[in-house]
Amino acid sequence: MKPEAVEIAYARWAPIYDRTFGAITNVGRRRATDYINARGGRLLEVGVGTGLALPYYAPSLSVSGVDYSPEMLAKAQGRVDALGLGHVELSRMDARALDFPDNHFDTVEAMHIVSVVPEPEKVVAEMARVCKPGGEVVIVNHFARDKGALAMLERLAAPLENMLRWHSNFPMERVLGAPCLSIASEDRFPPLGMMTFLVLRKDAGTARLS
Ligand SMILES: C[S@@+](CC[C@H](N)C(=O)[O-])C[C@H]1O[C@@H](n2cnc3c(N)ncnc32)[C@H](O)[C@@H]1O
Repeated sequence: MKPEAVEIAYARWAPIYDRTFGAITNVGRRRATDYINARGGRLLEVGVGTGLALPYYAPSLSVSGVDYSPEMLAKAQGRVDALGLGHVELSRMDARALDFPDNHFDTVEAMHIVSVVPEPEKVVAEMARVCKPGGEVVIVNHFARDKGALAMLERLAAPLENMLRWHSNFPMERVLGAPCLSIASEDRFPPLGMMTFLVLRKDAGTARLS
């Protein structure tokens, strides 16, 4: 999907996102934020959306959040202001061209975004670039399955996913191409094991690049 299409789609979703898709995917958000809080340091959340995860981050973290949709970001900023989240900074950015230096963050996170963005490979390469050597890229997403009862359920969920401009048949391989990243852990969680919590570690010897 082109960036303009993302903008149009999420301008429509912003007012209802928290009560719909946002609500049913909260398990993954809690899971990721608990994990990241234990790691500490500097975090970048790519595709921060309406900022549903922001209240869960420990105040000891330094949190940067970016998103392409002004409407989603405005919601997130409202949350930051209302809750006085002084450790969170938000900016508008295309995830394919992150305006941060190389090797900058301890953790770089993307929840429910890799199957929405145009050129997910480029997004993961950027996430890898801005992650410190030895740091981690954390991805929460639904990835396609070939067969079985869950594969059927996934097909049933396709209309909702399509409304979000989400590709329900998105294969995990598309986020595994950065040469400096390797899988540190991978596991499935509710609803119905449809979501995956994926941790990719950046090679400690990699000073530059994805
Ligand atoms: C399904 S929402 C997920 C939001 C949030 N991560 C969450 O878990 O609630 C996908 C988000 O990705 C953002 N997005 C899509 N393409 C993007 C891009 N190229 N750069 C930055 N953000 C993008 C959308 O604006 C939207 O906020």
